[in-house]
Amino acid sequence: MMDKESFRKEAHKLVDWMADYLEGVEKYPVRSQVKPGEIYHQIPESAPEHPIPFEQTFKDFENILMPGITHWQHPMFMAYFNANTSYPSILGEMLTAALGAQCMIWDTSPAAAELEQKVCDWMRDLLRLPKELTGVIQDTASTATLCALITAREKYSDYAINQEGFGSMPKFRIYCSEHAHSSIEKAVKIAGFGQENLVKIKCDENFSMNAPALKEAVKKDIEEGLQPLVVVAALGTTSTLALDPLEEIGQICQQYRIWLHVDAAYAGTSAILPEYHWIHKGMDYADSYVTNPHKWMFTNFDCSLYFVKDQESLIRTFEILPEYLKTKNTDRVNNYRDWGIQLGRRFRALKLWMVLNTYGAEGIRLLYRKHIEITEVFAEKIRSHKSFRIMAPVFLNLVCFRYQPDGINDEEADALNARIMDSINNSGRAFLSHTRLNGKYVIRTCFGQSQVDWLHMDRLYKELMKTISLITTEN
Ligand SMILES: Cc1ncc(COP(=O)(O)O)c(C=O)c1O
Repeated sequence: MMDKESFRKEAHKLVDWMADYLEGVEKYPVRSQVKPGEIYHQIPESAPEHPIPFEQTFKDFENILMPGITHWQHPMFMAYFNANTSYPSILGEMLTAALGAQCMIWDTSPAAAELEQKVCDWMRDLLRLPKELTGVIQDTASTATLCALITAREKYSDYAINQEGFGSMPKFRIYCSEHAHSSIEKAVKIAGFGQENLVKIKCDENFSMNAPALKEAVKKDIEEGLQPLVVVAALGTTSTLALDPLEEIGQICQQYRIWLHVDAAYAGTSAILPEYHWIHKGMDYADSYVTNPHKWMFTNFDCSLYFVKDQESLIRTFEILPEYLKTKNTDRVNNYRDWGIQLGRRFRALKLWMVLNTYGAEGIRLLYRKHIEITEVFAEKIRSHKSFRIMAPVFLNLVCFRYQPDGINDEEADALNARIMDSINNSGRAFLSHTRLNGKYVIRTCFGQSQVDWLHMDRLYKELMKTISLITTEN
């Protein structure tokens, strides 16, 4: 067990360790180099019967666990989308852990409820979202999308499905683009709609949803006696950061009385930049919206902002009031357990508040603009090389590209690009990920890590050249 003196001593050491780790993160291979099972087999078969000194546990953390960590805070982490942290966010998480508050209702920590309300308002205004939206912090965008689907279901049925089950309800249809995130499919399954009722709408050449095709699909479903319920529009798809045409989609939703949920998980926070406010054009049509400060916006995972137009319908869908949770203040305060799935909730607003205070909106804008400039210069290097192809419009800080020299066919290029990417990832010097666009294997690189700088972009370009030259001379 640990007494208060040992806690103080170890905590100080840990803070030093954390500062050293972040400062020296570039000495680690970006992607963990361990094999499956390598960590598991180093951990004892059963839990310890007797206390182990913390120093020993920490040694095991360093020796056994650290080799199995992929370093998301490494500036050469360019895979997927970033999950950034930052000094103020870490400090916020530390305080959250120390307070250990369960923020399920206002009474269980009024400051947590009221700060959550305030930072959601701040973010809504910073991102130029419509004033009528009300926000709540969820763990992830996946949860927020699930909440949207369930709320739409309840509103449509006048809350009867919550009460009686689906019974004789019509067959509901949900729509998203063929490039929408897998969390939508998952939410459709969990919410009880059935995966076959998720209609994936074709995209145009820029990987954005084709709005006329959406309208056709809705009309056809209505003719067949099915009930269009929700359209999920993506502002920033996972593969390419494509934007679905929000205004056109919004008009269709308005015409057919369909709930419009906007998934802006990654790209949404870019609207903190005045030059990207336009991405939210059409948001007046939206019933709900999600964006994740826990991706690009320097806030530790998890912190996902979910905004709704009709707060009442969200609460009516999720509220539950057993006797032991009744309080005197119910009508005057936000009891966030009624705003989503979880009862117990972490004090997530604290780290977001610390990030916003410490950076200021201007500090965030400065870094965002740097990441975007780095991306544009990298894209230009790729564009100007005769054997590289840019495979999707470059937006914000993501470049989708492929190496395809003359004389090799598409299949050979697929294999070659997979080999280039694997070789770079295996080297530990950078970490990239891939997608498929129009059937072709495409490398994705995202310049969004909190510490990424010009030298890292140069390093990636050189790494690509070196890897390609090694692979092509081997053949
Ligand atoms: C567009 C989009 N939506 C949703 C998600 C899921 O986010 P979360 O992990 O917060 O559920 C992602 C994850 O990358 C995403 O890119």
